[in-house]
Parts: sequence; C-alpha cells; structure tokens
Amino acid sequence: MALKTLKDALVEELEDILSAEQQITAALPLMMAKATHPELKAGFQLHLDQTKTQISRLGQALSALGHPPETSTTCEAMKGIIKEGQHIMSTQADPDVMDAMLIAAAQKVEHYEIASYGTVCTWAALLGQNEVKELLGQTLQEEKMTDEKLSTLAESVINADAVA
Ligand SMILES: [Fe+2]
Ligand SMILES: [Fe+2]
Repeated sequence: MALKTLKDALVEELEDILSAEQQITAALPLMMAKATHPELKAGFQLHLDQTKTQISRLGQALSALGHPPETSTTCEAMKGIIKEGQHIMSTQADPDVMDAMLIAAAQKVEHYEIASYGTVCTWAALLGQNEVKELLGQTLQEEKMTDEKLSTLAESVINADAVA
C-alpha cells in the first residue's frame, strides 16, 4: 500500500514496533535465564511484564487509528539486534562478563525502541491523536527508565565485576 499521509506512516511504524515488541517478548526469557546477577534477572522479568503491557497499548493505538490490533510486518532491525544477542548468549563467558554483554545487548534494544517511540509520539501529537500519543508516551517513559536502570546497574557493579 502506498503511504499517502503521515497517519499512514504512523500505522506502518506502529506495526513495525509491534513486531519488534513481539520479538522482544520471545527473547527476554532467554536473557533472563542467561543472566546471573539477581538485579539483572529481576530487571529482565520486570521488563518482560512491561513489554506485554506495551504490546496491548500498541493494539489500543492501532484500534484508535481504525486498524486491527495486529501486525503482518517483521521488524528486520529487531530481528538483527536479537540475532546478535543470541550470538552473545551462545558464547562461552564468565558469568560477570556475560552479564555485561547482556546489558550491552539489552541497551541496543532499548535505544531502538526509544527512537521508534519518540518518532510515533511526535507524529501522534502532530496529528492530534491524543489518546495514541498518551499510550505511546507511557511506553516511551518505560523504555527510557529501563535504559537508565541498565546503565546504572552496569556502571555501579556489573562492569567492575567483569573487569577481572
Ligand atoms: Fe518495549
Ligand atoms: Fe524495552
């Protein structure tokens, strides 16, 4: 379908993000299983729960725009980021080193999401789609907080533990 308006682009982008979130939902339990530091494990569990809520928000946003709450798209970027993560998880590594690498992989996921949600929030606001903007804004804040928590965890303990 040719995209004629910014609203069409918004729907296209939301379908892409929905695919990304679905892929993340499948990947997070594996990352949780591979993590050793209890705070990191708990962080992945929390974010898995949040991601399920984020998926339902995307469904609500698509519905508000008159579209079915589903996607037929595959987010190729997330597929690639997760493929790298799977490569990391299949590597033999000291537990502290693995935790540091898992955080690095998770932050790539978060930054992709922050970029995507930032864009769709801006577009929804411009289009006067306040409900959509509100829904996506909540998720954007969660992604930013997750990213910050990962940075704090890495910088306060995990990276130092992995040094030697
Ligand atoms: Fe997410
Ligand atoms: Fe996220």
